[in-house]
Amino acid sequence: MEVRGKFSSVGGDSYQRVSPFAPSYVLALESSCDETSVAVLYEGRDIKCNLISSQVELHRKYGGVVPEVACRRHSEVMNFLLEEAILRAGISWGQIEAVAVTHGPGLIGAVLIGVAAAKALSFALECPLIGVNHLEGHLYSIFLEWPDLVPPVLYLLVSGGHTLLVLMREVGVYKVLGGTRDDAAGEAFDKVAKLLGLGYPGGPLIDNMARRGNPAAVCFPRPMLGRGWEFSFSGLKTAVRNFCAGEAAGISPEDICASFQEAVVDVLVDKTVGAAVSFEVENIAVVGGVACNSRLRCRMAEEARRVGCRVVTPSPSLCTDNAAMIARAGWELARMGVVASPFLDAFPNLPLLERRVPT
Ligand code: KG4
Ligand code: ZN
Repeated sequence: MEVRGKFSSVGGDSYQRVSPFAPSYVLALESSCDETSVAVLYEGRDIKCNLISSQVELHRKYGGVVPEVACRRHSEVMNFLLEEAILRAGISWGQIEAVAVTHGPGLIGAVLIGVAAAKALSFALECPLIGVNHLEGHLYSIFLEWPDLVPPVLYLLVSGGHTLLVLMREVGVYKVLGGTRDDAAGEAFDKVAKLLGLGYPGGPLIDNMARRGNPAAVCFPRPMLGRGWEFSFSGLKTAVRNFCAGEAAGISPEDICASFQEAVVDVLVDKTVGAAVSFEVENIAVVGGVACNSRLRCRMAEEARRVGCRVVTPSPSLCTDNAAMIARAGWELARMGVVASPFLDAFPNLPLLERRVPT
């Protein structure tokens, strides 16, 4: 394979440019947080398998992810998942034409497990290795089920670690419009659930409780509403804590959940639809774990319709962390001629590069 050039910037040493190619079978590994996942993707679209080993039970008693425990479990299950993925996909190891792996952002030890396994596989199978930014994986997850979607796309990427508005002008060209100044939206869900004693992870629990509550019961603040494309959720979480410590008598947990969720959703919907209108983009994609939220899906669709935009969201299993999205991103990168260099490394704070395609 002819090497055509390198990238500069954080993590840039991890990539190199080669002649574009379209691998038939991509094997992908994801281990950036508390899910170990291995997928096999055929022709960029057909998910042959997307195995996910969740560590939720393991971390539940701590009320959050314990990095050292997560790393150990990734290393325990990775080899088993790899063998199982090849079996379920019904192919042989020799048919794999590229190995894609998340190399950040995430828990450094956890990411390293995937990177080490992927490097060994690419060496043994003599096929290209592709380093994928986890955030890029979430962005490309949408194309697995919406193959006809053509950029520009305005993304709301909402997960436990990130809350980002990203404009994808064309495949491989991204502009981050804004992120969170403190807590991510999913983190706020998890922390509020913890302080209400609901359990972990908090997002789905609050989503469920809120169905039986009144979203107008408590008027929690809407942080940074109408003020640019940045977010902030830590003050809202503190407002819920203060409310619970003071005036909560007579207000049910269901009402608190619904009111908190409504405040988060108001901010997410207002900024996303506002950005789509400002940048004149018709397609809005909501991706990441919080995109499973029923109220967010419903309100986003309603508000977008009002301004003539359409909203697309992945199925819930492709919203939360999974390797199929990493495989799709890896397939896109191969078609742009971007593969891993021999120096592929793990980066806990890997930023989203603005350009993946050669200028
Ligand atoms: O994308 P993801 O699996 O992992 C990260 O990259 O962070 O997202 C996990 C986050 C957690 O904070 C979880 O509470 C949240 O997504 N989440 C939800 C829902 N389902 C998952 N938040 C709100 N409503 C949900 N239904
Ligand atoms: Zn994620």
